[in-house]
Amino acid sequence: MKKKFESLSPEDTLKIAKEFAQELNGNEIVYLKGELGAGKTVFIKGIASYFGIDKNEVNSPTFTLMNIYEGKITIFHLDLYRLSPGEAEEMISDFVGKGLIILEWGDRLKEDIFDLPAFFIEIKVSEEDNREIIIEKIEDK
Ligand SMILES: Nc1ncnc2c1ncn2[C@@H]1O[C@H](COP(=O)(O)OP(=O)(O)OP(=O)(O)O)[C@@H](O)[C@H]1O
Ligand SMILES: [Mg+2]
Repeated sequence: MKKKFESLSPEDTLKIAKEFAQELNGNEIVYLKGELGAGKTVFIKGIASYFGIDKNEVNSPTFTLMNIYEGKITIFHLDLYRLSPGEAEEMISDFVGKGLIILEWGDRLKEDIFDLPAFFIEIKVSEEDNREIIIEKIEDK
């Protein structure tokens, strides 16, 4: 099922992400798609704060490739921008079953091959601060 939300500010995006986080129990994979500056990291800040993690701890792991946050659950935050699909797959597979996996540039993977409940989230920039956020749960698993 697909749900669509309109965000008019970073605060809106945080709120939408916190609502979404209520659906998670910490053993899922979340694929985030959206251009540079769309708000992928802002969205992850919202998820993290729902689980008691300080928003300021959450930053794009553009160079480090991965950040790990410990709160009520463990979150593995990966940025696939600089990885090939093969490298990304190898890295992710180490964390399957150990916590919530959230991927910026998740659309770099061609397929959802992991044996985990999965969500695809797309953030589209419409104008200035306006964003359309589309959340889709992959229903066949
Ligand atoms: N409605 C909105 N939702 C989210 N961010 C917004 C919104 N309006 C403006 N912004 C701004 O857009 C930027 C989003 O940055 P963010 O780092 O989350 O993007 P990103 O998609 O993670 O980019 P990157 O691919 O570079 O990691 C922030 O500066 C934020 O303040
Ligand atoms: Mg980012």
